[in-house]
Amino acid sequence: MAQERIPDEMIAVVLHAYEGPGGLRVERRPVPSPGRDEVLVKMAASPINPSDLAVLRGRYGFRPDPPFVPGGEGSGTVVAVGPGAMGRYFQGSRVACLWDGRRDGAWAQYMVASTKGGVLPLSDSVSLERGATSVINPLTASAFIEITKKGGHKAIVLSAAASSLGRMVNRLASGEGIEVINVVRRDTQVELLRQQGASIVLNSSDSGFDDALRDACHQHDAHLAFDAVAGELTARLLRALPSNSKVTVFSALSFEPAQTPPDQLIFENKCVDGFWLGPFIASRNLVQTMLTWRRAQKLVTTDLRTEIRAEYPLEDAPRAVEEYVSQMTGGKCLLRPNG
Ligand SMILES: NC(=O)c1ccc[n+]([C@@H]2O[C@H](COP(=O)([O-])OP(=O)(O)OC[C@H]3O[C@@H](n4cnc5c(N)ncnc54)[C@H](OP(=O)(O)O)[C@@H]3O)[C@@H](O)[C@H]2O)c1
Repeated sequence: MAQERIPDEMIAVVLHAYEGPGGLRVERRPVPSPGRDEVLVKMAASPINPSDLAVLRGRYGFRPDPPFVPGGEGSGTVVAVGPGAMGRYFQGSRVACLWDGRRDGAWAQYMVASTKGGVLPLSDSVSLERGATSVINPLTASAFIEITKKGGHKAIVLSAAASSLGRMVNRLASGEGIEVINVVRRDTQVELLRQQGASIVLNSSDSGFDDALRDACHQHDAHLAFDAVAGELTARLLRALPSNSKVTVFSALSFEPAQTPPDQLIFENKCVDGFWLGPFIASRNLVQTMLTWRRAQKLVTTDLRTEIRAEYPLEDAPRAVEEYVSQMTGGKCLLRPNG
């Protein structure tokens, strides 16, 4: 098969300053070359996630010096490989890519990804469109269920529960007989989760929320909460949980520090920790990761599916980010770098 010609230049979305979406420009950039243990991926699709919004504000776990190309995950085809045995394995493959902050990200026509955890092979049954959202949320939802089961929990609390991730966690938990006490911030989100079959959905904007949450946590013996919001919600979750409980903060959608009332930590023996997918994956061996990945690929159109609400060419990325931020529960906006 004739090899596809790789151009010298490409279109990319570039962040020039940590100013949020206002710092983005669409530009021509040189196509990067893969180094040792790296591959060059011709990008097919990439979503806009909350972690991307944190990156644009310099509030993520890595903080490259601008200008750089953001974009946390995506899908495409490997068109060139650098030196190293693993690269050859991926040559010509359809893959999902995960950005680690060391090179540029996924919002470009081409992306260099590491063969050490940055590219995962897509199953034949998974389209490039589905593959674009098949890493971050599906593997995180799977991790949450694994952590819940390992800790022997029969019930968990989940905030920002109407998110794509929240809906995945609910579907997986239902299959495992785990009760999810869902926390959302709008009545429409209560409706959405109820329609999906969730039995406990509480709105943190309601006046009786704290009492209702405490009752639900005690009734279902929930000792573990996964919190995506941080700020004062972390304190409200801590207060509602029984003694000897834990809140795992995995995002800060409020962009506020997680509040931890000392009386809850000292006198109630409650604690707060964090979760980040990258280190979680790195802490496991290759066989465990590939088994989880294979299972996630099988569920990508069912329990681990993502609702896509619109697709945009790369040139419209700033508008796509705006549109996504205006209604995050409405589904993902997908960038299509190569049309
Ligand atoms: N730590 C990790 O490794 C990891 C991995 C995967 C995902 N995550 C996190 O998981 C969360 C969900 O991701 P996703 O892709 O599923 O999100 P998504 O589908 O884009 O939905 C985001 C949800 O968060 C809600 N939200 C936004 N700001 C909020 C706030 N200040 N208070 C309460 N709710 C708020 C939105 O509600 P509205 O429509 O009302 O705005 C929406 O329901 C994100 O925070 C993401 O960063 C973390």
